[in-house]
Amino acid sequence: MDVTVIGCGYVGLVTGTCLASIGHMVRGVEKDARRLKSLQDGLCPIFEPGLHELMQENRASGHLVFTENIRAAVKDAEVIFLCVGTPPKDDGTVDMSYLEGAGKEVCDALCELNSNYLVTIVVKSTVPAGTNRKLYSFLKQQTKAYVQVVSNPEFLREGSAVKDCLEPDRIVIGGESPEAFRIMRRLYDPLVRREENFMTMNWESSELTKYAANAMLAARISFMNEMTILCDSYGADIEDIRKGIGSDARIGPAFLRAGCGYGGSCFPKDVSALAHISQHVGYEMLFVNAIQTVNQNQKKRFVEKIEQKLGRPIAGAKIAVWGLAFKADTDDIRESAALDVIRYLLDKGATVRATDPKAMENMKGVFRDQVEWTNDPVTCAVGADAVALLTDWPQYTTLPFRKIAATMSSPIIFDGRNCLHRDIMREAGFQYYPMGRPVVENSLRLKNRG
Ligand code: UGA
Repeated sequence: MDVTVIGCGYVGLVTGTCLASIGHMVRGVEKDARRLKSLQDGLCPIFEPGLHELMQENRASGHLVFTENIRAAVKDAEVIFLCVGTPPKDDGTVDMSYLEGAGKEVCDALCELNSNYLVTIVVKSTVPAGTNRKLYSFLKQQTKAYVQVVSNPEFLREGSAVKDCLEPDRIVIGGESPEAFRIMRRLYDPLVRREENFMTMNWESSELTKYAANAMLAARISFMNEMTILCDSYGADIEDIRKGIGSDARIGPAFLRAGCGYGGSCFPKDVSALAHISQHVGYEMLFVNAIQTVNQNQKKRFVEKIEQKLGRPIAGAKIAVWGLAFKADTDDIRESAALDVIRYLLDKGATVRATDPKAMENMKGVFRDQVEWTNDPVTCAVGADAVALLTDWPQYTTLPFRKIAATMSSPIIFDGRNCLHRDIMREAGFQYYPMGRPVVENSLRLKNRG
């Protein structure tokens, strides 16, 4: 089918590339001149495993092209995806200006074309309930074109976006027209493994499904994070509890890993948006508010733990931060726990030296010379009073810990992702403080304690 994707950011680029890979002819529209140039040169502007290769293949086969010209791109399109950002405003509400702008431009292009062909407009951006309905009535009023609007939220995770897109758990389509549902079913045909995984519902249910999914996942994490407080107090192990409850089929094992707080461009934004959406209907979502409060507190608690266990005043202490990305396998630092943790550490007068395999350049843009930057975790820890591990990069589990301990001012690790092994820490001579797990407090005397 002829598909146009408006907005080649994270969601648009992955969606467009994957649709091209299952045989559709995809035109990606990108307004940002630098990003467009990079796409046209065959360079993938984001770090996402497998995306660059898939982009190359589909550009070479002519299934994927990029342009800035929305009118030309809309001309033959049967399906037009709107994949523009809906970022949070300062007050936590959703900034709809990009989506409104894209909707208006598509509308103008359709008016100009004056065609009678059916065009299906697909809203992939995460939008508050009622948005698709409004877009549909706007298009109906403004253009004589034969248009349908469907909501089609995306559930991709950064780091596994290509796989998530090509092997989706479910495809959710919101709308009112059986014809639009049929078109979407045809579009996604190669990806529908079981019929029940292709779900149709009304616009509002689909829009809220997206927020509810992210809020539910964030809730599971915040719940486990809150449980770490009890684990720390009673000497319980959150990992044992995770296994203990995750094996209950009604609960399931995913998204129960405790840590120093969730981040990323989606959970914080969508949980906050859900809280605001509810205010529009005069209701305060108590549970959703609590998810956010627990997440914020978890980052503070992590720094307070460093302060308590450091064995010296935090002001003037040298803290080595391992991991800046909001999770492993990405260079994305949006709402990363590292942002808050580093800010708290600096506010308390600590000196911060940081490293990350992918996200350092992005973080440099935030902290500049307030932080010392190092290329690898071993150098980062030299002379430090403690390490704070904030991203679960797998390479951090296989470091030469004995050597690292010997070069530190005092060998202490605060593991904000519970990804190191207690026995290895003990053998290497570390004091080891995970989140909600038994600690290792070696009898070894810490070096250079004030
Ligand atoms: C999330 C959802 O998982 C996707 O389904 C959704 O499509 C996407 O948001 C979106 O709305 O666009 P993503 O933000 O890429 O995906 O990352 P996740 O893998 O969900 O991780 C989010 C945060 O939760 C990370 O900071 C991660 O470290 C944290 N997390 C995750 C935990 O603390 N514990 C866990 O058990 C899992």
